[in-house]
Amino acid sequence: MGKNILVFGPNGSGKGTQGAIVQKKYEIPHIESGAIFREHIGGGTELGKKAKEFIDRGDLVPDDITIPMMIARLQKDDCEAGWILDGFPRSKDQAITLAETLEKEGLALDYVIEIVLDRGIAKERIMGRRLCVKDNNHPNHIAFEAIKPVEKDGKLVCRVCGADLITRPDDQDEDAIDKRHGIYYDETTGTMAAVNYFKSGSGPKVISVDGSKSIGEVTDSIMNEL
Ligand code: CO
Repeated sequence: MGKNILVFGPNGSGKGTQGAIVQKKYEIPHIESGAIFREHIGGGTELGKKAKEFIDRGDLVPDDITIPMMIARLQKDDCEAGWILDGFPRSKDQAITLAETLEKEGLALDYVIEIVLDRGIAKERIMGRRLCVKDNNHPNHIAFEAIKPVEKDGKLVCRVCGADLITRPDDQDEDAIDKRHGIYYDETTGTMAAVNYFKSGSGPKVISVDGSKSIGEVTDSIMNEL
């Protein structure tokens, strides 16, 4: 079986981390939809120019622009052994159109990975991240025992080196988090509806894993099924 994979999970579920692990193990590209947008817009392609008009107006880019962008990426040479697409589709409609277009283009879709995580926990995970000012590779998180910051002189500091901790502004923007999660957890038309669409059909094998577990445990659950 090939390794053409879609990965789903709410912001805060560790989806990007798991995607990177799968990429490394199978030596297939980990394609993030946001990066494809930036490439097209930055590169001034026809699709990029069209997309930019919508973005500049604050509108969502329609599927007849985004889907050809995704398909063109999946048809590149480096995708021959497989690919893992992350961040697309976001809605049920996009899922249906993507599945139809893949089929039309003769591209298989082998797996859908779903990282399942409670919405409240996902939010807590985003908001609890702390960055070490001295070293980006010193993870700290107020909600995880294993990487909890330590207290020094009445404040929390990096558990590895004792340096000050900061938060990323995006991680503390509750409105933005709620908006993104609102789209993700919408089971009628949103991303959860897209996942359910794949579950209901006879298409790809759907692998649902418990995202509340540790990174290693989530990886094991995915690898056991791939
Ligand atoms: Co540190």
